[in-house]
Amino acid sequence: MSLGKETERGLKELLRANAEDYMTLALLAEKMEAAGKAEEAKLLREKAAVELGHAKAIFETLVRAGGLKETAKELAEVEDLQHVSEYNVVAMKAKEEGHPEIERMLCSFAEQERGIAEALKQAAKAL
Ligand SMILES: [Fe+2]
Ligand SMILES: [Fe+2]
Repeated sequence: MSLGKETERGLKELLRANAEDYMTLALLAEKMEAAGKAEEAKLLREKAAVELGHAKAIFETLVRAGGLKETAKELAEVEDLQHVSEYNVVAMKAKEEGHPEIERMLCSFAEQERGIAEALKQAAKAL
């Protein structure tokens, strides 16, 4: 089954949004836990699991439509181009605005992003 262009684009956006929500909820749950709010932390973790479920279902749909190799290849390209340059852009802004420690942190993350993109490329090649 091949997807309509807008459906595919929308699903990719939703995959990112659900991944982001999952991460945000999980990070917030950690902080709530540390602040002694165990019940709220538990609820946030449950909601994070729901977001992960959404992300998995959408990812499955994309893989079914486009194939695993293509999906991995595309993730590698996104990580490579968009993500790495995004880090550098924000790092430069942080520097301009007088936050050298944030610039250093983001530059070191950008290096790691390159490594992540490499790992994704290798995974795509292995398929
Ligand atoms: Fe969701
Ligand atoms: Fe990344």
